[in-house]
Amino acid sequence: MVLEGLRRLEYRGYDSAGVAVLTDQGIEARKKSGKLANLIGVIEEEPLSASLTGIGHTRWATHGGPTDQNAHPHLADDGALAVIHNGIIENFAEIKQELLAKGHTFLSETDTEVAAVLLGDIYRAEGGQDLTKSLQIASRKLEGAFTLLAVHRDHPGVVVASRRNSPLVVGLGENENFLGSDVSGFIDFTRRAVELGQDQIVTITPDAHEITDFFGNPAEGKEFTVDWDAAAAEKGGYDSFMAKEIHDQPAAVADTLLGRADAEGRLTLDELRIDPQELKGISKIIVLACGTSAYAGSVAKYAIESWCRIPVEVELSHEFRYREPIVDEKTLIVSISQSGETMDTLMAVRYAKEQGAKTLSICNTNGSTIPRESDAVLYTHAGPEIAVASTKAFLAQITATYILGLYLAHLRGNLFTGQIKDILADLGKIPAKIQDILDREDEIKDLAVSMAENQSVLFLGRHVGYPVAMEGALKLKEIAYIHAEGFAAGELKHGPIALIDDGQPVFVVVPSPRGRDSLHSKVVSNIQEVRARGAKTLVIAEQGDEAVKQYAEFVFYVPETPTLLMPLLATVPLQIFACELATAKGFDVDQPRNLAKSVTVE
Ligand code: G6P
Repeated sequence: MVLEGLRRLEYRGYDSAGVAVLTDQGIEARKKSGKLANLIGVIEEEPLSASLTGIGHTRWATHGGPTDQNAHPHLADDGALAVIHNGIIENFAEIKQELLAKGHTFLSETDTEVAAVLLGDIYRAEGGQDLTKSLQIASRKLEGAFTLLAVHRDHPGVVVASRRNSPLVVGLGENENFLGSDVSGFIDFTRRAVELGQDQIVTITPDAHEITDFFGNPAEGKEFTVDWDAAAAEKGGYDSFMAKEIHDQPAAVADTLLGRADAEGRLTLDELRIDPQELKGISKIIVLACGTSAYAGSVAKYAIESWCRIPVEVELSHEFRYREPIVDEKTLIVSISQSGETMDTLMAVRYAKEQGAKTLSICNTNGSTIPRESDAVLYTHAGPEIAVASTKAFLAQITATYILGLYLAHLRGNLFTGQIKDILADLGKIPAKIQDILDREDEIKDLAVSMAENQSVLFLGRHVGYPVAMEGALKLKEIAYIHAEGFAAGELKHGPIALIDDGQPVFVVVPSPRGRDSLHSKVVSNIQEVRARGAKTLVIAEQGDEAVKQYAEFVFYVPETPTLLMPLLATVPLQIFACELATAKGFDVDQPRNLAKSVTVE
C-alpha cells in the first residue's frame, strides 16, 4: 500500500525513495537512490516482513545529494524511530551542534536526520512514552518548512505527523487511515479526506485521527470529498501522463467553464471572502506565479487589461517580495498555482496579505494551502495533473483568469452583459477547437520526430503569442533537454537575431490576419527576417491564413478564434511537439531530470 501511494506521488520528487514498516521485531526500513523502481528492486531482493503500519517517501534533494544514505526514512532512538520529511529545516545546523554535543551521531547530511534525532532525544527526555507530545515539542524547536511523519517501535498502529508550511492531508478509510502530501497518495483506498491547518500535529490509528496544535491544544480539520477517482490519475491507454493530459485539455477547459455563468452572464467565483464592493474598487492587479503558471499569468494580463482597464503586473513569486513591491489594500493579488503548494508563491501571497492586499487564488488542487489562505478562490477543474511538465493545468488556468477578467469587467461595468456573453460563447467553443487540433496531431508529431537531433529551437510570438512562445520553449527545455528560448518577435532585431544561423529551427506563433489592428503583417516580416538569415521557419497560424505558407517550411493551422483566446489553441501543437520529440529521444517525459512537480521549498 505504501509503495502504491508512492507510485502515485512520485511526480513530486524522484531522486530517491524509501519506506519503513513497523513489525513485531521493530522497524524495518529500505531505501535507495534513483526512482521508485530502484527501491522496489531492493525490496524484491530483500522482502519486508508483514506489517500493518508503514511510511514511505520520495525525495527531491535539498540538503545532501540524492544518495542511498541521504534517502528517507532516517532512523533514530537506536533504530526504534523512523522519520520522513518534506521541506527544509532552516535551523538544522544549530540543532545538529546541540545534538552532537549530547553525543548523538549522524549517518547522513540531511536536515531530516537532525529532526529524527531531535525527536528521539525528546522522546527519551519525556520518559519514552508519548510520541505525539514529543513531536509537538520537537516541532516548536524547528524553523522553516516541514511535514514530518514518525513511527516508533513502541507504538504499533500509530503514525504521528506534523505540518508547518508544507502540505499534508489525512485520508479516512474503513478501519484504516492515511496521510499523504496530497490525496493521490491514498486515492486508491478512500476519497474522504481532511485538510489540516498550519502548525498542526495529527496522530492516526486505524480507527481515529486526532489533531492538535504544536502545544497540544485540540484542533479541528476540515473534511472534504475528493471529486475525482483513481482512474483519473491513470494513463488511460496513453504512453505517458503528459500525452494523456494533453488529450484531457478539451475537458479541462470545458470543466473549468462549467456552471460559471447564469442566463444574464453573471459569473461566480468558488469562494469569495472579500466584499464585492472592495473588489470593484481595486486599482491594480499583480499576478504571482512560477513556471508555466506564470506564463498563464502573462496571457491573462492582455485579456484582463483589455476587458477591465485595470493595470496588471505579472511577477515571478520568488522575485516579488524582495523588491519592496508597492502593494496596498487597493491591490488585488492573483496567485496562479496548479498545486496550491508552491512555496515561492505561498510566501509571496503571505507577504502581500501582510501589506493589506486582497488575495485571490487560481488553483487546481482542492484543499491546498494557497487557496485556503486566500480571500477568494477560483478552482481550475483540470483534474489531477501528474506529468511534471504542466499542460492541461495551463489551459485551465488561462480559462480561469478569463472568467476572473469577465467577472471583474461585469462588477466594474467595463463590459456590457452582451459582450461578456459573446466572449463566454467563444470560450465555450474552445474545447471542440482543441479537439480538432488533437485530431490532427500526427502532423506535428512527424515534425517532432524528424527534429529529434536538433540542439536548439527558438520560439517567437507577439502580443498573446509571446507567452505562448515562452511556454513552447519551456516545455522543450523541461522534457527534451534541448536549448530553447522564447522571444517577443519584435525584440528579435535587438539581439536574439544574432543566434540565427543556417538551419536554425524557429517556431513562430502567427496572429490572426483578421481584424483591422492585426499584428499579422509585423510577424510575417519577422519570419522573413529570420528566414533571410537561414532559419528553418515552423509556423503556427490560423486556418485560412494562406499568405503565411510561402514563408514557412512547415505550417500547422489552428481553428479561428478571437485573438485573446488564441493561446488556448496555439499552445497545444507546441506541447505535442515537445512531448513527441522528448519521447523520440527516449526520455521519460513524465519525470524529467532534476525537476519536481510541486516545489515546496524556496
Ligand atoms: C514546478 C513544476 C512546473 C510548474 C511550477 C509551478 O517548477 O515543475 O511544471 O509550472 O512548479 O507550479 P504550481 O503548482 O505553482 O503551478
